[in-house]
Amino acid sequence: MKDVFGKALMDYYNGDKTKIRIRRDDNYLDEEDLRIYFSDYDDFPEYEKEILKYADGKILDIGCGAGRHSLFLQKKGCSVVGMDFSPLAIKVSTMRGLKNCVVSSAFYLPFKKNSFDSVLLMGNNFGICGNNTKEFLRKIYSITTKNGKIIAVSRNPEDTEKQEHLKYHELNRKRNRPVGLVTIRIEYKNMVGNWFELLMLSAEDLRILCESTGWRIERIIESENGIYSMMLGK
Ligand SMILES: C[S@@+](CC[C@H](N)C(=O)[O-])C[C@H]1O[C@@H](n2cnc3c(N)ncnc32)[C@H](O)[C@@H]1O
Repeated sequence: MKDVFGKALMDYYNGDKTKIRIRRDDNYLDEEDLRIYFSDYDDFPEYEKEILKYADGKILDIGCGAGRHSLFLQKKGCSVVGMDFSPLAIKVSTMRGLKNCVVSSAFYLPFKKNSFDSVLLMGNNFGICGNNTKEFLRKIYSITTKNGKIIAVSRNPEDTEKQEHLKYHELNRKRNRPVGLVTIRIEYKNMVGNWFELLMLSAEDLRILCESTGWRIERIIESENGIYSMMLGK
């Protein structure tokens, strides 16, 4: 695996603040400053602060990045495991003080039944398994306790007026894909990562998806540009 995002996180941690580029498969290009991934609790947006209040018991942070949420919860005295498929992201999290970390892919959750009470999917990570999100939710169901929760962030793809995004939705409809499924890759300096899929859902599509996986929407906190956090229960 080309660990492009991890390399950018490590460089940022060491003082090189070069931005990453996120390229979509229609060639739409966005730039991202990695500062957000190193932010402290005080700088977390309200929709994150509010939803993190539900995290309790044994916590798994899937796609933890540089570990900002895990570190906050660890400081509060919670039992938290950070997981990411990027070895360098896990290295940065460890260097920043995160005690329990695992390098693993969300497509393969190496945990026994009933291992966790809360699973975090922050930073738009609800959809990191793309078109396999249903299967992903079922797996999380099996590794969580009977009162298990998912605490996550996603985005309503249709909450936009940008022509480029509306055209992409149209392309998705033509390709028979969900409107909010994007194929993207990370580019950083002269490095180019692999293409991967990210699913974004409206609250209504989320409800339909949850119904077939055993999860129930307990709380949604809406923010700007279609971004929302959610707490799902069993
Ligand atoms: C947008 S960042 C969010 C990081 C962190 N949750 C935050 O909000 O600061 C996405 C993270 O998820 C990780 N990731 C993406 N797909 C993954 C997968 N299939 N399995 C494990 N980690 C994944 C990336 O390596 C990256 O660190």
